[in-house]
Amino acid sequence: MQILLTGGAGFLGSHLADRLVGRGDAVLVLDNLNSYYDPAVKRANMAGLADAPGFTFVEGDILHDNILGDIFAARKFDVVVHLAARAGVRASVENPGLYEEVNCRGTLNLLNLAVRRKVARFVFASSSSVYGNSAAVPFRETEHVNRPISPYAATKAAGELLCYTTHHLYGLSVNVLRFFTAYGPRQRPDMAIHKFTRLIDRGESIPFYGDGSSERDYTYCGDIIDGVVAAIDRDLGFEILNLGESRTTKLSALVAIIEKNLGKKAVLEKLPLQPGDVQRTCADISKARRLLGYNPGTTVEEGIARFVEWYRATAKR
Ligand SMILES: NC(=O)c1ccc[n+]([C@@H]2O[C@H](COP(=O)([O-])OP(=O)(O)OC[C@H]3O[C@@H](n4cnc5c(N)ncnc54)[C@H](O)[C@@H]3O)[C@@H](O)[C@H]2O)c1
Repeated sequence: MQILLTGGAGFLGSHLADRLVGRGDAVLVLDNLNSYYDPAVKRANMAGLADAPGFTFVEGDILHDNILGDIFAARKFDVVVHLAARAGVRASVENPGLYEEVNCRGTLNLLNLAVRRKVARFVFASSSSVYGNSAAVPFRETEHVNRPISPYAATKAAGELLCYTTHHLYGLSVNVLRFFTAYGPRQRPDMAIHKFTRLIDRGESIPFYGDGSSERDYTYCGDIIDGVVAAIDRDLGFEILNLGESRTTKLSALVAIIEKNLGKKAVLEKLPLQPGDVQRTCADISKARRLLGYNPGTTVEEGIARFVEWYRATAKR
């Protein structure tokens, strides 16, 4: 298959590129290598693919029509997997305009081109954050998601709406995937597990928001990639699907697992809960199980052990 993968230099995108190239797809990664975190990390994420047959990297922005036009003119894509986004919840509170531009306008650009160039399927990376604080636990895809509590969440919900409208008007097959806090090797350095590991390892204090009772459904990257690949391969018309682990871990327990793997104690800097952060996420994944054959199996204990192993081998240098 010919696949356009936006954001393919990032944490999840690079794992997906590895998987797709490995099974023989032709993958063009479009990524602007922005400096939200070190672009050298993003280049390193893709280093193993540099000479792989079927892999192409284009450094460019999803907001630039000329780059998008060139890419679509040069290739006929079967599937567009749209992962490129501004992804931090807290940073979105500081700079909502940038999030709106990249996550809404950028998504619309790709949807329009997918229709015009007769792409068979569009896969969109959405987020558990669209559920906000008001949804009943576990979160089901049938919940209303019109109470997002961060600009990031609002732009992801808007992206989902644009996907639906495009499907409705033009029949584009779209699978919207709501990822629940992904982690594992290559995790973004701003995300909690990576940040805590780095700080505890250096003997520095970690920001510990609230009383430690907030809970997240942490999902191992390999499990999420299984779900994304299944979504790439299935024409479901239009569907929204949770990709989580369907288990929750309290912040305090998370810190304890990292401490155990590092063999070091954390120094906590206790801070109030941050505006934009939700208290709890937990996915109902029965729909993804049914429609995608999704079957995540990595416990947070196993996954963090693998993350810390990767951190020790690479990120510390
Ligand atoms: N990691 C998670 O826990 C999580 C949870 C929910 C949703 N998501 C979504 O999954 C996707 C991937 O997340 P990630 O954690 O791998 O983030 P990431 O930041 O590592 O990857 C995103 C990539 O998109 C690229 N990008 C950003 N703006 C761009 C633009 N204008 N043009 C071209 N490329 C651009 C970045 O350079 C980066 O390499 C994002 O859409 C994110 O919102 C992630």
